[in-house]
Amino acid sequence: MTQRVSLVVGGIKGIGAATTRVLAAHGPVFASYLSDHAAAQAFALEMKEQGLDVTVLPSDVRTRAGVAALVDEVVTAAGGIDIVVFAAVAAKLQSPLRVSEETWADVLATNTAPLLWLGQEMAERGRDNGRLVALTSPWSHRYVEGYGAIGPSKAALESLVVYLASELAKKGTTVNAVSGGLVDTPLMRSLVPEKEIEALARRTPLGRIGRPEDIANAVDWVTSERASWMTGQVLTLDGGYFLR
Ligand SMILES: NC(=O)c1ccc[n+]([C@@H]2O[C@H](COP(=O)([O-])OP(=O)(O)OC[C@H]3O[C@@H](n4cnc5c(N)ncnc54)[C@H](OP(=O)(O)O)[C@@H]3O)[C@@H](O)[C@H]2O)c1
Repeated sequence: MTQRVSLVVGGIKGIGAATTRVLAAHGPVFASYLSDHAAAQAFALEMKEQGLDVTVLPSDVRTRAGVAALVDEVVTAAGGIDIVVFAAVAAKLQSPLRVSEETWADVLATNTAPLLWLGQEMAERGRDNGRLVALTSPWSHRYVEGYGAIGPSKAALESLVVYLASELAKKGTTVNAVSGGLVDTPLMRSLVPEKEIEALARRTPLGRIGRPEDIANAVDWVTSERASWMTGQVLTLDGGYFLR
């Protein structure tokens, strides 16, 4: 099978890390992060010990220039780029009535705008039949306490998926979002009290919250050749939570 080069933005922790592991079965993966160098080095060592071709890269994707520099590093090192997964997030919990201008700007710059810049890069420098995937959440269109800035940033992200999918189809590149209900990551554990996690698991038809692998396996399919006729879609995995 042809090797494919992947970039996972926010790929060293949580769902991004699980995605990096899964995509490493198909070729080299570049996993970017913002500033946690110690966690990045530990993750790089773990990948090396498992015999996986994973390179960690520090990068701030909040600016167009930051995204261009990151893609430069990948293309220079690997000779091209096939798959991009956007998994970075600024998880600033606030009521919409309390969101400051500073928080609003940072949340949109981190959670939404990078997909636009990554889409432009895929148009210019991505190989044909590429894949661009954004991670989102069903709370983009439903109320949950504290999601006053994050929810709207994810809704805009899902809209961008539609617009980019329409444009990138010219080169056979698909653009989709994978949406996860509550997923067990260190970030989520730091934000949601244990009691609420347990209550949500009880209300979920399949009886548990998500695991990072649940989302990573869906990304694996969406980025595969088997999903070559799916574009502009949001694929939701939530254990059936939003059925009720
Ligand atoms: N966990 C859930 O319940 C859940 C549910 C649905 C959707 N999601 C979505 O899934 C994605 C991953 O979530 P997660 O919980 O796995 O997050 P996470 O563990 O906190 O990982 C986020 C990563 O993004 C990086 N990052 C943050 N800002 C960045 C920036 N400006 N430039 C580059 N990298 C940046 C962080 O770097 P550092 O390590 O350096 O800080 C971190 O490695 C997010 O889009 C999230 O909204 C999560």
